Amino acid sequence: MNGLRCYGVSSTKTFTLVSLFLLPLSLCLCLANAAFDLNTIPFNDGFSHLFGEGNLVRSPDGKAARLLLDRFTGSGFISTRHYQHGFFSARIKLPAEYTAGICVAFYTSNADVFEKTHDELDFEFLGNVEGKPWRFQTNLYGNGSTSRGREERYRLWFDPTKEFHRYSILWTANIIIFYIDEVPIREIVRNEEMGIDFPSKPMSLYATIWDASNWATSGGKYKVNYKYAPFVAEFKDLVLDGCPLDPIDQVPAAIACADKDTELQSKDFNFITPERRSAMRKFRQHYMYYSYCYDTLRYPVPPPECVIVPSEKQRFKDTGRLKFGGSHRRQSRRRRHTRVNRPISTDDQLDM
Ligand SMILES: *[C@@H]1O[C@H](CO)[C@@H](O)[C@H](O)[C@H]1NC(C)=O
Repeated sequence: MNGLRCYGVSSTKTFTLVSLFLLPLSLCLCLANAAFDLNTIPFNDGFSHLFGEGNLVRSPDGKAARLLLDRFTGSGFISTRHYQHGFFSARIKLPAEYTAGICVAFYTSNADVFEKTHDELDFEFLGNVEGKPWRFQTNLYGNGSTSRGREERYRLWFDPTKEFHRYSILWTANIIIFYIDEVPIREIVRNEEMGIDFPSKPMSLYATIWDASNWATSGGKYKVNYKYAPFVAEFKDLVLDGCPLDPIDQVPAAIACADKDTELQSKDFNFITPERRSAMRKFRQHYMYYSYCYDTLRYPVPPPECVIVPSEKQRFKDTGRLKFGGSHRRQSRRRRHTRVNRPISTDDQLDM
């Protein structure tokens, strides 16, 4: 099995961090011999159109898809089934050049079934004005806990518009890991205190592109400019490696998904090797610019899953962010729109 290749207990180091050097602008987080062994599925085998008539464009071979945003509509697709736990992944290329106001979201959710008690795990990519890089954030919600945003925001160590990169969400009964390529960028280990805030019900995988002019770029300062439309996000090499389970059937997941859970927990991507952990630490040191865990204005006591790293705490001081750029204290929660209009989870006004 592939997994063993990378984390075996043998003393031979089959897995080394070859390349970790500072470039003028970016830090390379390269892992040797790292590619996960994944079963990709053709778009048509696992996904359906969600919204945006005409703006979901399947590749001629049915394996990949593009999502377009134009002046009439954004677009999205959704996995045809719900999954209890899984590894959800795609290689994605984001729109280039002027992309201010655009949000490309890649996430799991069950808000379609559990309106008030939904679970959700997010990657949200936020466009920028020309010459400035994309940003992104991750977030999670459990059982409708939308009043507790758990956002982290980051820059990327590469240009996501130039090439495809793999973005993945691992969700098991014990752990959530967000990956970019093979670098874990965020890990949430379930703990008792978190309780139902840890996602627990079957979710679908979504991908959407939409106009988030009112918040995505510098807190809404820069809007989508349709002179540059259509904006195109590309998705390929999709992975839906989970236990398909109907969320409203009363089949106990623990029974229905026992085998899949065991399988997931034995996979390579379930293990953060020392090398991966080191890459994760470097990523977070250099590319994370906001974390709710250090935002004592919002959370005087950090939520229970937070692992406080002293050097990070020092860096963020008491704001959770590196720079102030606006009305941080504004507590008004913008409304969660439909699942199409992705939730706005922070009043982040950062202008970077
Ligand atoms: C989930 O949230 C609902 C609505 O707030 C609540 O009634 C329910 O008890 C919660 N579930 C658990 C297991 O705490």
